[in-house]
Amino acid sequence: MRAAVVPGYGPPDRVVIVERPTPQPRRGEVLVRVAAAAVTSADARLRAGRFPQGFGILARLGVGLRGPRRAVLGAALSGTIERVGPGVVGFAVGDDVAGMSGTRMGAHAELAAVPVTSLVHKPAAVSHPEAAGVLFGGTTALYFLRDRAGIRQGQAVLVNGASGAVGSSAVQLAKLAGAEVTAVTSSRNADLVSRLGADHVVDHTSTPVTALPGPYDVVLDAVGNVSRTDGLRLLAPDGLLILAVASLLDTLRARGRVIAGPAPERAEDIAHLLELTASGRLEPLTEVLGGLDSLPEAYRRIDTGHKVGNIVVLPGVPD
Ligand SMILES: NC(=O)c1ccc[n+]([C@@H]2O[C@H](COP(=O)([O-])OP(=O)(O)OC[C@H]3O[C@@H](n4cnc5c(N)ncnc54)[C@H](OP(=O)(O)O)[C@@H]3O)[C@@H](O)[C@H]2O)c1
Repeated sequence: MRAAVVPGYGPPDRVVIVERPTPQPRRGEVLVRVAAAAVTSADARLRAGRFPQGFGILARLGVGLRGPRRAVLGAALSGTIERVGPGVVGFAVGDDVAGMSGTRMGAHAELAAVPVTSLVHKPAAVSHPEAAGVLFGGTTALYFLRDRAGIRQGQAVLVNGASGAVGSSAVQLAKLAGAEVTAVTSSRNADLVSRLGADHVVDHTSTPVTALPGPYDVVLDAVGNVSRTDGLRLLAPDGLLILAVASLLDTLRARGRVIAGPAPERAEDIAHLLELTASGRLEPLTEVLGGLDSLPEAYRRIDTGHKVGNIVVLPGVPD
């Protein structure tokens, strides 16, 4: 099968397309023919070996010293089951599915082995690119806003980085929960985040997020430029600060009013996001760039820090 491989940490054009053996689905996994795979900020971090402050050595010990141990990146995907591994129930060859392959990665390839714990049947009303696109930012925003912050009707929510993968889902999920949303983005994305439901839009090129008066019940930083001290200052007395991008130190001392750490990839959350998408309540903001050969271009866009929404590639499309 054709796969996009990252042989060592480096710039976007470090990615090469090669022939690789077809992965074997292990117990509890299925082999998916990947119709669409997201290219995310997490993939870009892994490709570059660029981790939040303080995580450098720890992260490299975990994922690979000179390059990603799992050289085929990509976790959020949508496609069709080609083979079923031992112990799998509820999935069959030919089923259209969407999900996340977690630390197994491997979605930037024609075929990927995916654990069924993070896989669901794809609703027919959601296209493969939409499904692959919505999952990374969607699962993150859902976990932090609903499960950790418990956002409620009428709360004031600030989303920093509102036009990215996490932010665009966060704006929409916060609105669905009945919150009043302030979205921080640049002026070129102002109309976009308003369309997603933001009540107020702040242009970060003229107003730094830390200069906002607040107070907010929930502040979600999906950029990484809000310090713990500045973030706490923006909060109402029992408000919560969510640092989606946190240094090692901020992650270790995240408790009480500060929330940080990795978001899980759960089948029930994936199913929920796809239902919201199928019913038109969640817009996946997906851009299809092309086949696997468009990965360097996808990474270049992510590395600017100004990607809009979600980028998807279609591994089945020939170069
Ligand atoms: N904790 C977790 O489990 C978890 C999960 C997912 C992601 N993350 C982290 O969350 C971060 C965001 O991920 P993502 O995938 O959403 O990134 P992304 O899609 O690349 O986000 C890019 C967006 O950030 C906006 N932005 C850039 N500078 C900004 C600024 N100064 N103020 C406000 N907005 C700004 C850009 O808007 P403009 O072009 O308009 O500036 C752009 O639309 C990443 O660092 C990622 O590692 C953490």
